[in-house]
Amino acid sequence: MSGVPEDAVAFTAEAQAAVRGTVCSSPRELGGSVLRALEDTVADYKVVEPSRLVDKWYRTAAVADYGSPDAAATYLGGYGPRSVLKYEESILGLFSLKGFIPRALSVVDFGAGPSVGFAALVDLLTLLGGILGQEFSLSYRAVDRSRAMLAVGRALCNRIMERADIRTTYDSSEPNDLHPSPETLLVLANVMNESEGNLECGTLLRALLQRLPGVQDVVVIEPATEQPSRQLCGLGARLEHFSHIGPCPSSGSACTEWSFRDFTKRVYSCERYCLGKWAPAAARCKFSMALFSKVHAERKLAGDDHVVVGQRLGTGQAVTCRRGEKRVIRLAPEAQPWDLVTADGRVKEWWP
Ligand SMILES: C[S@@+](CC[C@H](N)C(=O)[O-])C[C@H]1O[C@@H](n2cnc3c(N)ncnc32)[C@H](O)[C@@H]1O
Repeated sequence: MSGVPEDAVAFTAEAQAAVRGTVCSSPRELGGSVLRALEDTVADYKVVEPSRLVDKWYRTAAVADYGSPDAAATYLGGYGPRSVLKYEESILGLFSLKGFIPRALSVVDFGAGPSVGFAALVDLLTLLGGILGQEFSLSYRAVDRSRAMLAVGRALCNRIMERADIRTTYDSSEPNDLHPSPETLLVLANVMNESEGNLECGTLLRALLQRLPGVQDVVVIEPATEQPSRQLCGLGARLEHFSHIGPCPSSGSACTEWSFRDFTKRVYSCERYCLGKWAPAAARCKFSMALFSKVHAERKLAGDDHVVVGQRLGTGQAVTCRRGEKRVIRLAPEAQPWDLVTADGRVKEWWP
């Protein structure tokens, strides 16, 4: 854990355990005010047969089209709950690695869609504030090429701001209006993948970071599909000035492991309404993730520690990694991807 800056609050091990207990419950659940804001926003759009749109997104190999308010509201209802939970776990992981939380968090969410990142951050900072007895504030900028997504996002954020217990500011822009700005945390969630037509994570992220020189930390979340997952693993080697700090630090080695995590979650009525026959899939959520930083050291790996990166095999073994060096280890039953294990497979540190 590095020193705690003056404008930040120490994130103690006890507080981390308390927050993890809520954020990573099983099955996972949305905070009550996020859920209400999300369901009310979806209901406002009165989309007729939203699952027809989802059928189209599933059936065609073409880039998903979120160009209409109906499509954007359907995305919010069908995929928003899962996204909120992925953002929360990933940002919790970043704060845990850093060992502190900035009092005034400033975030640019690129490919924000309907601004579910705002919902996740308000919920997480409110929870952290309660547990730590501190006040946090959030300044959030959504960037997206779809105006419809930004409009639905504004409606969602207005509802959240009406009820929020923390100070927030919200802004949005299209990618062409992106200008150097004060945000220090960049988040990209479910943007650099085949369905979005963005096949080269390194190229997109490098170009983006050149336009945002104030960014110090980057959180990338992607679906657990093979191509983006493997790219995330070696992305650190392609970014100047940034190190790959977690959950599996690659220390500049060009790794291509297919690593992802999954969790179970409640299925909400907005998901059933928007997803139709695809709704049962919303009970399980898989994702890949990587954290990069200009200023923070990578996750500490002492002695013979390894990070679990593969899925458990029938033999009880899984691939683990230590700065690019792989080892297959028989794991204790409770170990999951991204936990830190000892050479004999015991969990030394949970993720996040
Ligand atoms: C699957 S949605 C993800 C939304 C949100 N981040 C989430 O995790 O739920 C992907 C979003 O990225 C946007 N997007 C994809 N490529 C983009 C690009 N090159 N520039 C700006 N926005 C982009 C799309 O318009 C869409 O709203």
